[in-house]
Amino acid sequence: MVQSTLPSLLLASLAAVATARNCKNLTVPISISALNTNFTLQAPATNIDVTDFVLNVAQPGVNFTEQALGPNAAPNSTSSEFATISGTYTIGATYCEPDSGPGSALQILTHGVAFDRSYWDFPAQDHNYSYVNAALSRNYSTFAYDRLGLGSSSRGDPVNEIQTALEVSALHALTVLLRHNAVPGIEARYEKVVHVGHSYGSLQTWALTAMYEGISDGIALTGFAEFGDFVPYFMLGGNYVQANGVSDTLASYAPGYLASADVTAVQLNFFAPGNFDPEILEAAYAAGQPVTIGEVMTLGSLVTGNNTFGGPVLIITGERDIPFCGGNCDASSPSFPDQAKQSFTNSSYIDAIIVPGAGHGLNLEFSAQATYASILDFLGQHA
Ligand SMILES: *[C@@H]1O[C@H](CO)[C@@H](O)[C@H](O)[C@H]1NC(C)=O
Ligand SMILES: *[C@@H]1O[C@H](CO)[C@@H](O)[C@H](O)[C@H]1NC(C)=O
Ligand SMILES: *[C@@H]1O[C@H](CO)[C@@H](O)[C@H](O)[C@H]1NC(C)=O
Ligand SMILES: *[C@@H]1O[C@H](CO)[C@@H](O)[C@H](O)[C@H]1NC(C)=O
Ligand SMILES: *[C@@H]1O[C@H](CO)[C@@H](O)[C@H](O)[C@H]1NC(C)=O
Ligand SMILES: *[C@@H]1O[C@H](CO)[C@@H](O)[C@H](O)[C@H]1NC(C)=O
Ligand SMILES: *[C@@H]1O[C@H](CO)[C@@H](O)[C@H](O)[C@H]1NC(C)=O
Repeated sequence: MVQSTLPSLLLASLAAVATARNCKNLTVPISISALNTNFTLQAPATNIDVTDFVLNVAQPGVNFTEQALGPNAAPNSTSSEFATISGTYTIGATYCEPDSGPGSALQILTHGVAFDRSYWDFPAQDHNYSYVNAALSRNYSTFAYDRLGLGSSSRGDPVNEIQTALEVSALHALTVLLRHNAVPGIEARYEKVVHVGHSYGSLQTWALTAMYEGISDGIALTGFAEFGDFVPYFMLGGNYVQANGVSDTLASYAPGYLASADVTAVQLNFFAPGNFDPEILEAAYAAGQPVTIGEVMTLGSLVTGNNTFGGPVLIITGERDIPFCGGNCDASSPSFPDQAKQSFTNSSYIDAIIVPGAGHGLNLEFSAQATYASILDFLGQHA
């Protein structure tokens, strides 16, 4: 009797150590407005339509975003190619503090395509791949949220509503609420608020700081380079179909929400050769979240020209990154991440790091702990 209960008691206390984190799930209401793009394109109805869409957006030499405006783009059109979208939405988020109390700064974490907020605190293998745990251990608090349109956040029309402009407006609204201590459930007040993005979340973080001066005390753009020529690889490699046919978890998404149809597509886009545990790849596929066609057509729309953000900037990208480096960040000189530095004309500090042997899914690969340390060293020393 004693011998059989002892190990289970030990296991229980080990589990308690591993999960003794001060985290809570929150639902945050926001009222936002943004100038979205007014496409005349209809949401794809079938998987054949989805493939047609992917072939159209991946076509070199053709601006499909322009074509999808239809008559709205005509110079003499009475309808506009932009439309103001306003609404009240809710955002699903997880807020964490170190055990010892509120951290020295708050990190706002914006995930990329194919994930939700769990990208930052991946539950598989007892949170062995958790950026949040690494940040907590450096005395940061974290706020990770499901981007508007997916996960436990409000859904919307996948063509003309869930687009980059509205999502950046959501990120702005969340940041303002957090800075003003106005999110119910978060008692701590933070003087310092920094932003960390992954992939599309980095594009949105770039846009946030370009649009709103003083909104952030420092940014880390992970899985990022200046919006380039390689997104077609990501679209073609992603084996996209209607999300609602992929799994029971995704069944409630409307047509026009797309997801990868198989695990190989997730491997191609996010995991570099020899740098990942196949069990984590399977878990990433199982946790996969959709992308809207409105997002695909507006991904980099707000990452244009120079960014006069005055704070410190880190760009950190896997050497084998697909969407931003085409599979080799060193294929150009300066490297693609180094080129991206040039858009920041006013930053107090800037660095670009290439993670050797890593792919686009930085947080979930064998090099994850080294990536986390680079980001946290940067924030600790420069933000
Ligand atoms: C937050 O919600 C997620 C999924 O909905 C769940 O797995 C997790 O345990 C929740 N966390 C807390 C701290 O309640
Ligand atoms: C494609 O067209 C859109 C809409 O007119 C425009 O905003 C964008 O700059 C164009 N992209 C390129 C690469 O020319
Ligand atoms: C958006 O496009 C549709 C279709 O052309 C048009 O009816 C509508 O007026 C446009 N919206 C705005 C705000 O121009
Ligand atoms: C964490 O940061 C807070 C706020 O700056 C500070 O009061 C606290 O002492 C720090 N905790 C540790 C363990 O360093
Ligand atoms: C961006 O800044 C660089 C360096 O200051 C300058 O050469 C370039 O013209 C700027 N680009 C734009 C679009 O303003
Ligand atoms: C550069 O950054 C500083 C510090 O944030 C800011 O005060 C200044 O307005 C910025 N310059 C431009 C041109 O935006
Ligand atoms: C945690 O991940 C690392 C790779 O980052 C791996 O070497 C290690 O075996 C994993 N540990 C567990 C308990 O899964």
